[in-house]
Amino acid sequence: MSQIIDGRAIAQQIHAETAACVATLKSRGIQPGLVFIRVGEDPASQVYVGMKEKKSAELGFRSTTLVLPADTSEAELLARIDGFNADPSWHGILVQAPLPHPIRQATVYARVAPEKDVDGFHPVNVGKLLLGDTDGFVPCTPGGVHELLIRSKIPTEGAEVVVLGRGNIVGKPMSSILMQKGRTANATVTVVHSGSRDVVAHCRRADILIAAMGVPEFVKANMVKPGATVIDVGVNRIPAPGTPSGTRLVGDVAFAELQSVAGHITPNPGGVGPMTIAMLLANTTRAAEQQSR
Ligand code: GUN
Repeated sequence: MSQIIDGRAIAQQIHAETAACVATLKSRGIQPGLVFIRVGEDPASQVYVGMKEKKSAELGFRSTTLVLPADTSEAELLARIDGFNADPSWHGILVQAPLPHPIRQATVYARVAPEKDVDGFHPVNVGKLLLGDTDGFVPCTPGGVHELLIRSKIPTEGAEVVVLGRGNIVGKPMSSILMQKGRTANATVTVVHSGSRDVVAHCRRADILIAAMGVPEFVKANMVKPGATVIDVGVNRIPAPGTPSGTRLVGDVAFAELQSVAGHITPNPGGVGPMTIAMLLANTTRAAEQQSR
């Protein structure tokens, strides 16, 4: 049987470390401040931002949530970001994706001041990650997967890592993190995507398989080397007749059939999800520290 990687417990450790940082900052008269911006009424974004707000309040952050109507112009959104960039009492700014059409996500993320970009989506932070400059901010979900591996003592040096998916939020930054030099990375990373041949053969070579392509239960038992570590980043809503909502959430990994194959595996929910919030709040305390120097 696989060992379960308990994302909730590991996130809790990180929250405790963050709470200690918040206390230190407060003793210096600084309360870390985090702005959430949501545009339109995407139900998943409402839930995610709500969870982030709640946890930030629990840990002693100051926060505000700006909710803008779905027909907000890009210019209006950029002007609101400029306002928060200019206000030194806000240390972090998070614009929840997805943004409604025709707002250009890349334009919006490039407008957040890089030192307040606790999501790690600004081109400066993307570039720093690729260059191995640890001053920047690393996107929260792949940063959280990295912490899960480190704190579960899963060796990455020389390991064959396969990342399924090449998205800007997870796949690309995940591959950058694990290919860097250093004891907690130094992996041989293969990124498998919709243009890849021999997907199963790539996956079967992996010591660590990270699924982030958004296909329900894509990773099956025949795709995993016995003893490999399997990390499920997927959140997919699929039809489920007879349930109250008519849908249910599944990951990118067929968890049940992998439990007799994988060495370590993340449950879903309770694996990667809680880590995203933990990394966001850790990034925000670091932003507050850097800005108060
Ligand atoms: N939408 C899905 N994941 C994320 C994330 O990590 N940050 C933001 N801002 N939006 C998201």
